[in-house]
Amino acid sequence: MASAAASASVTGAPCQQNAHDVGSNGAAVHSFKASNMVIEMSQTPKPKPEMTGLAFGTVFTDHMLTIEWSSGEGWQKPHIRPFGNLSLHPACSSLHYAVQLFEGMKAYRGQDNRVRLFRPMLNMNRMLKSAKRACLPSFNEAELLECIRKLVEVDQEWVPYSDNASLYIRPTYLGTEASLGVKRPSRALLYVILSPVAAYFSTGAKAVSLWADCKYIRAWKGGTGDCKMGGNYGASICAQYEALDYGCQQVLWLYGDDHQITEVGTMNLFLYWTNEDGEEELATPPLDGIILPGITRQSILELALKWDRFKVSERYLTMGDLQRALKENRVTEMFGSGTACVVCPVSRILYQGEALELPCAEDGSSLASRIMKELTDIQYGRTASDWNFEV
Ligand SMILES: Cc1ncc(COP(=O)(O)O)c(C=O)c1O
Repeated sequence: MASAAASASVTGAPCQQNAHDVGSNGAAVHSFKASNMVIEMSQTPKPKPEMTGLAFGTVFTDHMLTIEWSSGEGWQKPHIRPFGNLSLHPACSSLHYAVQLFEGMKAYRGQDNRVRLFRPMLNMNRMLKSAKRACLPSFNEAELLECIRKLVEVDQEWVPYSDNASLYIRPTYLGTEASLGVKRPSRALLYVILSPVAAYFSTGAKAVSLWADCKYIRAWKGGTGDCKMGGNYGASICAQYEALDYGCQQVLWLYGDDHQITEVGTMNLFLYWTNEDGEEELATPPLDGIILPGITRQSILELALKWDRFKVSERYLTMGDLQRALKENRVTEMFGSGTACVVCPVSRILYQGEALELPCAEDGSSLASRIMKELTDIQYGRTASDWNFEV
């Protein structure tokens, strides 16, 4: 492990001095400082779980990071403390008006026993963007990343010794003011918890079936679909259960009268096909406000551009485009992408009462398999890359 850049203090005194730093947009940002970290170690460490069959997000490590903010006192010192329940005022706006957001990222242990995060600054940038949309106070992204690095270092034994399991990192940010007013909160809590995870889908990286219907809309122009805010996800759960009722595993989220294909469950979506102009193309919908800017999505686009083997596009795709392409045998494969599964092939789409069957090579020859290999080789340190951030 690299030595901590932040020297941890052990006093419980409030942070007198906020960092007055420069954020990624060049503007002055008041922030907590990782160097003011206070660490209280757990006296009752828990046994590590058996990874096989472990349900996603059900087991948590020994410690958590908490950082409090108030309009009067600014940011307090970051604390790493024993994992435990929060105490929240019953009126706080995160509970009533979903003034809340989160991030999802992972720590991976390589065979060299080093622990790495994958492009974590992109998560920090996305979190800050969500915070602005939620009217929660800004922070310095590099300082938060250093606090998270320190937390993972403290709980490093929880990073599974495995090349398919990982430690899921869940930064969360809440409005905590004791008031029912619908307004910008004057108190907030940023915290981070860690959970060891096996493969996300119970079926592993096997292809999934999708229910495509515009009965439910995940995100809309001017909404919050491009931010990682809890309300987007809570409101999607009943659609997910309806998909299961139709015998499908996930929802294919459509948008607009032309039934644009946007995302799959909680993943971005890629279509690898021969397009209308006869070109071999890897396409994904553009970041026009209704798409979550996935870190895996961005990485796949950058990888494919670097390969320079086929056209790579951020473009609109409709169900009509897909149906025509399927009839004309122009679809090679379709897959979702996200931190949880990296890539997840799509085998079938139920749309307007018709089951659309998609080609899905399961012998490892697919583009999805190649992307899976390249990205996991980087994440687990088998391929050197400046996308990795060592803990
Ligand atoms: C709605 C949605 N789309 C896409 C993604 C994939 O994003 P990432 O690749 O950053 O995990 C996620 C997961 O974070 C998501 O919640």
